[in-house]
Amino acid sequence: MQQPQPGLALVRRSLHELGEILLSVSGVMKRFGALVAMRDVSLQVKAGEILALLGPICAGKTTMFNLISGVLKVSAGDIQFQGPPR
Ligand SMILES: Nc1ncnc2c1ncn2[C@@H]1O[C@H](COP(=O)(O)OP(=O)(O)OP(=O)(O)O)[C@@H](O)[C@H]1O
Ligand SMILES: [Mg+2]
Repeated sequence: MQQPQPGLALVRRSLHELGEILLSVSGVMKRFGALVAMRDVSLQVKAGEILALLGPICAGKTTMFNLISGVLKVSAGDIQFQGPPR
């Protein structure tokens, strides 16, 4: 039998069922020294959803994205993106 081309296999793996949880943020706290930038933040993003993260100046929006991307490490809680906590 003919083997699938590598590019096709890659496309197949990147597809997700609508509603499947892709990102899970659970009880996250981030501390910069004495400053607690966020406390007990939880959210989920499912395949097919488009969400916005809203908040006033210094609410911790950029910090949240830096935690999700792994640029920053959480002080407490955990973040899972299609896998184990990072
Ligand atoms: N690297 C850092 N070191 C120390 N404090 C930080 C650091 N990054 C962010 N903070 C502090 O954490 C808090 C949240 O900042 P953050 O930049 O995440 O807010 P934001 O919601 O993105 O704000 P803005 O609306 O101005 O973009 C602020 O009090 C900020 O001063
Ligand atoms: Mg910001």
